[in-house]
Amino acid sequence: MQHGKEPLIIFDTTLRDGEQSPGAAMTRDEKLRIATALERLGVDVIEAGFPAASPGDFGAVRAIAVAVKDSRICGLARAREEDIRRAGEALVPAAAGRIHTFIATSPIHMQSKLRMRPDEVLERAVAAVRLARSLCDDVEFSPEDAGRSEEDFLCRVIEAVIEAGARTINIPDTVGYNLPERFGQLVGNLRQRIPNSDRAIFSVHCHNDLGLAVANSLSAVMHGARQVECTINGLGERAGNAALEEIVMAVRTRGDVFSCDTRIDTTQIVPTSKLVSTITGFPVQPNKAIVGANAFAHESGIHQDGVLKHRETYEIMRAEDVGWAANRMTLGKLSGRAAVRARLEALGIHIEGDALNQVFVRFKDLADRKAEIFDEDLQALVNEDLQEEQSDQYRLGYLKVCSEMGTHPEATVEVWVEGVARTGSAVGGGPVDAAFQAIERIVGSGVRLQLYSVNAITTGTDAQGEVTVRLQGKDGRTVNGQGSDTDIVVASAKAYISALNRLGAPAGRQHPQL
Ligand code: KIV
Ligand code: ZN
Repeated sequence: MQHGKEPLIIFDTTLRDGEQSPGAAMTRDEKLRIATALERLGVDVIEAGFPAASPGDFGAVRAIAVAVKDSRICGLARAREEDIRRAGEALVPAAAGRIHTFIATSPIHMQSKLRMRPDEVLERAVAAVRLARSLCDDVEFSPEDAGRSEEDFLCRVIEAVIEAGARTINIPDTVGYNLPERFGQLVGNLRQRIPNSDRAIFSVHCHNDLGLAVANSLSAVMHGARQVECTINGLGERAGNAALEEIVMAVRTRGDVFSCDTRIDTTQIVPTSKLVSTITGFPVQPNKAIVGANAFAHESGIHQDGVLKHRETYEIMRAEDVGWAANRMTLGKLSGRAAVRARLEALGIHIEGDALNQVFVRFKDLADRKAEIFDEDLQALVNEDLQEEQSDQYRLGYLKVCSEMGTHPEATVEVWVEGVARTGSAVGGGPVDAAFQAIERIVGSGVRLQLYSVNAITTGTDAQGEVTVRLQGKDGRTVNGQGSDTDIVVASAKAYISALNRLGAPAGRQHPQL
């Protein structure tokens, strides 16, 4: 943090709002790995989930509360007794916990969704905060859809919940409707008009439907907000939330304008971004600010010349300050188990015994095909291993594709279905299409392919391809699956099978905002 600056609290909601993106559902272990990375990044508050959504969500929040000690752990709860008690219970093991309760305050949400009168909403909000305070010292309240709520009503509700014990007041632009100047003014007005506003920290939570989430958040910071809710890579409902990396680097780089700063270790930004992308299967667009592959690449000759003469001609930040290349220590064919283990530990991945043996076998296999193994390769290996561990329904056994210019490729695939090996063949428009059709011949799932994307994990033609497949099941549920391999057809088949396994896992969780 820059000397003499006020703290700007970074509240990360990748594991809650981020997970509400279609297909981004994560397992408990995946959430734990991300939470550990967020702790290492220096996030002040981690919103770990919505404990009342399902027993799985409750377990994930609790496991994070047990494991993470350097960040405050927050659980979301609607303004309902059962949700609040469940959140309180999940947070019992936390070194520092927070209950975040919310209720909508905009006319459209109160009338059409809640079917409640404004006075009833106010009463419910106060009761929720009181109950939450009886379970946890640190309570945050959000008037959902504040960005479309009437300012006078917001003032009444916020004054009352601060009186009831809320320490953080979060102003969400739930549908991403606001414009920066007006949104900043809203926060400034609320702070000025509400008599007890000095007893709470004002926070913002902006969605990116008009591409303004970061701009709106920063405008609010200029008007006194001292907490920003954001997600890694801007993940989140619909067009996503404000991107953590952009908020943090804007405030740090433009220290001449902002009177506050965060305690984020910026060198952890890129590794955390890659981890979230690998686990969720949401690739980062190459031209994405800070964490996109091109964010620091200089293509044109004029730019390259300028950067070589004086870096600041075209660069306002240093790539190494946000973690590009910081962690790219390489391993190779001759690296032993101890080196692999040490590198995994340094990445915050603690595995022992059989799990470590399995990753080591895969590492050796990859090292036979690829000269240098980077951190990103290791993350992908572990990710794949964990996915396989969690799925016992389908497993890829064997894949052969014959592809020749001018002919239709044919794939033969062996899939283990609940322990029984089954084989299928199909001809397709391309090798990936043939492989997917061959898998479908075996499993007959009837799913719809909604997205297929391939990214090179590292550089070089021997790089592993990381494939994301999004499938929609017959019940309408959408899931993402990932696979990685130096052969992208194999990576694609692994991704397809990983998505099928996820579709087979029980659903039945509630969405907090419906
Ligand atoms: O977007 C929103 O309003 C939310 C609330 C639950 C804070 O995610
Ligand atoms: Zn949200």
